[in-house]
Amino acid sequence: MQNRRQFLLSGASLAAASLLSTNIQASTSEQKKRTISTSPNTRKLGKLQVSSIGLGVQNMSRKYDTSVPNRQEMHQVIRSAYEEGVTFFDAAEAYGPFEVERILGEGVKPFRDNIVIATKFGWNIDQQTGARLPGLNSRPAHIKMVVDGMLSRLQTDRIDLLYQHRVDPDVPIEDVAGAVADLMNEGKVLHWGLSEMGINTLKRAHATLPVSAVQSEYSMLWRGPEKSVLPLCEKLGIGFVPWSPLGVQFLTGWIDENTRFAQGDFRATESRFNPENLAHNMSLVKLLMQWSERKNASPAQIALVWLLHQKPWIVPIPGTTSLAHMQQNTASRDLSFSTAEMRELNDSLASITIQGQRLPDFVQVFSDVEAPEKL
Ligand SMILES: NC(=O)c1ccc[n+]([C@@H]2O[C@H](COP(=O)([O-])OP(=O)(O)OC[C@H]3O[C@@H](n4cnc5c(N)ncnc54)[C@H](OP(=O)(O)O)[C@@H]3O)[C@@H](O)[C@H]2O)c1
Repeated sequence: MQNRRQFLLSGASLAAASLLSTNIQASTSEQKKRTISTSPNTRKLGKLQVSSIGLGVQNMSRKYDTSVPNRQEMHQVIRSAYEEGVTFFDAAEAYGPFEVERILGEGVKPFRDNIVIATKFGWNIDQQTGARLPGLNSRPAHIKMVVDGMLSRLQTDRIDLLYQHRVDPDVPIEDVAGAVADLMNEGKVLHWGLSEMGINTLKRAHATLPVSAVQSEYSMLWRGPEKSVLPLCEKLGIGFVPWSPLGVQFLTGWIDENTRFAQGDFRATESRFNPENLAHNMSLVKLLMQWSERKNASPAQIALVWLLHQKPWIVPIPGTTSLAHMQQNTASRDLSFSTAEMRELNDSLASITIQGQRLPDFVQVFSDVEAPEKL
């Protein structure tokens, strides 16, 4: 593991090397049309321009290990991220609930007009108390009420990118799109997206109201979206935002075969991290360690640059509560991989199998859901 000084040194030398975006070869005319970033540090999600690496702020009110970060330090991480060129911040009503949107609103206040705020509705949360009620709620009247609360918590008059967090099995996606379109007409929402949705629901959503971005889990640890979600995004011109791009820390080298998660840490419920599977899955971390050594970069940086190389319209949102981690993650945009190096990395990756489920059944059940037909 490198220390911060080594990262800055390696970052400076790498910045002089050929820039990441120039390594991404557009293979089809459709892709070429979509490689429209003017700067190597920006990308497009549909028509929305964002920094090529964003910041996930989910854990700024409570970390996975259940500890509570210092609020002023979180404001500093957000402000420093902006100074480093990060203009894409990812929150949700459900984080906290509510508290993370408040922290983000406070943090970005001095430069709010220069950044993109993404947040999400969809869980069934009592709007007065913040209590989590069972199931989901994407009823149009509820979405509109949720957005008013978001605007107040974020101290802003518009949400740049509003996602449906999970598909509501009781509400046709056309009705959800209709509510979002009303909010767009009022100027309260500028772009919209879906997260972890079923593939047909994405098609129907996009046909009703053009979708800018899909957000689903995607990383070297979980490659599920490669099967149908990414091809559909490519076909429809929709950007893709991988959540947990660092495999909830597994891809950073901070977890080894002896790591055990405390009670209350969500990662303890993921069978990919049970003792037997963790030992098996360490082969991926070993591969990252080898490349980390070879490229004079951290494992997290290798994991992020791998994502950036998958498609020019992919924008990872690594989550962190640490200033040093944010700086390290953001600097991965300057890490250069040749086509041959990326091929070699991908070949090695193809020989690694991951054991265990990414999510426990009680959470997985909310993914890949198709919204009911509109009658
Ligand atoms: N749509 C959805 O359903 C959904 C689900 C989950 C997450 N998300 C979004 O995706 C964002 C990112 O996902 P995530 O936070 O779950 O997972 P992640 O980005 O894969 O990993 C975050 C974890 O890695 C650690 N970390 C970050 N950078 C590191 C580095 N350079 N070295 C060592 N450790 C590092 C963080 O701890 P420290 O704080 O100590 O750095 C944290 O424990 C979230 O913030 C949220 O906005 C969306």
